Amino acid sequence: MTETVTTPPSGAPAFPSDRTCPYHLPDRYNDLRDQEGSLQRVTLYDGRKAWLVTGYDTARKLLADPRLSSDRTHADFPATSGRVESFRDRRPAFISLDPPEHGPKRRMTISEFTVRRIKGMRAEIEQIVHGFLDEMVASGPPADLVSQFALPVPSMVICRMLGVPYADHDFFQDASRRLIQSPDAAEARAARDDLEGYLGGLVDTLRGEPPRPGLLSTLVREQLEKGAIDRAELVATAILLLVAGHETTASMTSLSVITLLEHPEQCAALRGDPSLVPGAVEELLRYLAIADIAGGRIAKADIEIDGQHIRAGEGVIVTNSIANRDGSVFTDPDTFDVRREARHHLSFGYGVHQCLGQNLARLELEVILTAVGWRCRWTG
Ligand code: HEM
Repeated sequence: MTETVTTPPSGAPAFPSDRTCPYHLPDRYNDLRDQEGSLQRVTLYDGRKAWLVTGYDTARKLLADPRLSSDRTHADFPATSGRVESFRDRRPAFISLDPPEHGPKRRMTISEFTVRRIKGMRAEIEQIVHGFLDEMVASGPPADLVSQFALPVPSMVICRMLGVPYADHDFFQDASRRLIQSPDAAEARAARDDLEGYLGGLVDTLRGEPPRPGLLSTLVREQLEKGAIDRAELVATAILLLVAGHETTASMTSLSVITLLEHPEQCAALRGDPSLVPGAVEELLRYLAIADIAGGRIAKADIEIDGQHIRAGEGVIVTNSIANRDGSVFTDPDTFDVRREARHHLSFGYGVHQCLGQNLARLELEVILTAVGWRCRWTG
């Protein structure tokens, strides 16, 4: 088990910590960042120890290292909360598979997420974004950015891509929130049960039916009915795509709007030069690092790196919130600067598991910032 390994003389501080301010690392992370070396021991919520990777170069090396496994069902996989731990016995999607099993399963979904396919969705996304903005404006003040805009936009987009009826959005937005955010493991498990029931029902309906628009119908016809994937794994994949597809972009949207309002000089730069928007999206992704963790892993073999010895069976957590603030890679890393070249941030992870939805998230955020900026004139 991970807790039996050596602890460095400096001790192993607790990880993760909640932020008290959305734009700043928790104070404890600043301590971790100030430590010598790019990886160190931390103590997880259940007392187990794991390696925390805080340096950018070491993070990239380890995320690309085949000696690390993403198997979330492994007994020693480093769970960062009781909520995460409670999913250990569930059938995982391909985010939890290692090569060579991972590639073929990821490729089953990739056609919907290629640069070309996503580029072709711009007009549709613009229409969705302006539609929700129109509704919010028409409903008059006060407006709730999250429930009236930030959540419905990516939710409608991913529903259309998957072929999930948006009419059920109250149900699955609530279940996704409970699954991702609930501090209570039992509630998170119940949310997972709800989503499994709902998406399992949808998969059963699609079986044997004529093709319908959306990735789920394609997966049923081309993979499930041909025996390339089983029902449980297809449902797990549908949950991954549905939940990842709207929770992440919704959080990025809300925090991006607040971040820009908090930095009026950066708003003015964007207002003066809309060509800065794509770069601003990258800088927001770097600065906010909403996922906090770029990847949890478990070592399958001993690894020597940066003067440290990771032993087989030890947990490794790569934190993008700290690695994205590595001063040797990003000058003046705590400063939010929309003109910065930040595209190499680690907010979408790195290596074979690098975010499948990154092109979609980037386009959604670009369209959202452009539309909100244009409609609201970013008064700062
Ligand atoms: C700003 C928004 C997003 C952020 C910050 C984000 C972050 C991440 C990160 C850090 C990983 C790597 C996990 C690992 O290595 O263990 C990941 C993987 C993944 N993301 Fe995202 N994501 C975002 C949006 C999306 C969207 C819109 C989708 C669309 C469905 C999506 C689907 C996925 C999938 C399927 C994986 C697993 C890829 C694999 O294992 O091959 N994500 N994401």
